[in-house]
Amino acid sequence: MDCIRIRGGQPLRGRVEIDGAKNAALPLMAASLLTDQPVTLARYPELGDTRSMLALLRRLGVEVTPAGPCSRSLALVTRRVASTTADYDLVRRMRASVLVLGPLLVRSGQAEISLPGGCAIGTRPIDLHLRALADLGAVIDLEGGYVRARAPRQGLRGARIRFAQVSVGATENALMAAVLARGETRIENAAREPEVADLAQCLTAMGAGIEGIGTSTLQVQGDTAFRPASHRILGDRIEAGSYAAGALITGGRIELAGAPADAMTATLDVLRSVGARIELSPDAVVVGRSGALTATEVETGVYPAFPTDMQAQLMAVLCLAGGRSRIVENIFENRFMHVSELVRMGARIRVRGRAAEIDGVRKLLAAPVMATDLRASLSLVLAALAAEGESVIRRVYHLDRGYSRLEAKLQAVGATIRRAAEDGET
Ligand code: UD1
Repeated sequence: MDCIRIRGGQPLRGRVEIDGAKNAALPLMAASLLTDQPVTLARYPELGDTRSMLALLRRLGVEVTPAGPCSRSLALVTRRVASTTADYDLVRRMRASVLVLGPLLVRSGQAEISLPGGCAIGTRPIDLHLRALADLGAVIDLEGGYVRARAPRQGLRGARIRFAQVSVGATENALMAAVLARGETRIENAAREPEVADLAQCLTAMGAGIEGIGTSTLQVQGDTAFRPASHRILGDRIEAGSYAAGALITGGRIELAGAPADAMTATLDVLRSVGARIELSPDAVVVGRSGALTATEVETGVYPAFPTDMQAQLMAVLCLAGGRSRIVENIFENRFMHVSELVRMGARIRVRGRAAEIDGVRKLLAAPVMATDLRASLSLVLAALAAEGESVIRRVYHLDRGYSRLEAKLQAVGATIRRAAEDGET
């Protein structure tokens, strides 16, 4: 297994190209199951998670080809669904596999998905996905660790879906099923995350009728007659925010080319309050430092609030901010696994339930640390970039799930970072 070695201390300066958003790409790819017409996705991010989704989609019968002159475009065509089962080995690797449930069910009348089970950042059930599909008429059984969903003989029918709690994935599954169900569907308390809006826009390009995109009420027409569609994937606000945190923690200045500034307001506001100087232009966000880092209080929440996917990276920055900071994690229980690793690098953090209190220290010290989940791993990279000495980060497969060409991008802005074979230590 590989590890990443980082010698900290250099301010990061230069330009980083932001990829298409992982969390937009995954549902967009799943949406190709809805139709026999081609769906072409530009700005496709080459990541562990998108590779896992491609592997799953290929098993289900999707043909995948590079499209156009740029290799970062993919054409996905599902002439016919070859299988309606998402196996344990794939779902276990990537929870977002559950996004094929809605499209498979509405296109083929049935779907079998392995239950995702527990996960490093909390229990993460899928009850909201299942309830929404049941509202559309699906009959759902749990059997042998699998969810088996069946549509009635006449297919799914439009309905009113009211989510008891906001869920990004459940909104996406409901939306994808609704565009092909018979008649209208109204989705209330829908997630407003920009990645959900990106999916809705692509579905519209594919021929669907959706009103209320970007709001918490989506009105979906159903019975879509699909046509070929091309869609450019939204920029990754979390990747952009992560590099912004890199500029801030090292006292450098990075131009984030292609960052979706409009979708990042909460993150940019928080970074500003901590000491970032931010300039916005139509296709880039430039993040530098305006002075010493200062403590802040932040709560994660559903969009447009501060995203849980930026919580760990912000915490790394706050480790070096003067005063006492406080972060409340409202979305996922057990999403503070990076704390014990940051503490090993000299941070002073105390967790009480859903809240973490961070007392700023003057410096962090390099240490061997272990990545525990995708965003937690990036918080360790950030801490290592600022720390004195060489840090070794193990279990980097977590990073590879969601950050493309991380070492190359960081090297280009001056970081001393390399991937190496692990030396046998565990
Ligand atoms: C998506 C993102 C993930 C992000 C999260 C919250 C993708 C591929 N992943 O995950 O990066 O951290 O949104 O912004 O887009 N819940 C239930 N029952 C359900 C579904 C969810 O109780 O059926 C709970 C979850 O445990 C969690 C909360 O709802 O506490 C929000 O989860 P959700 O918005 O569904 O996250 P994901 O779609 O899994």
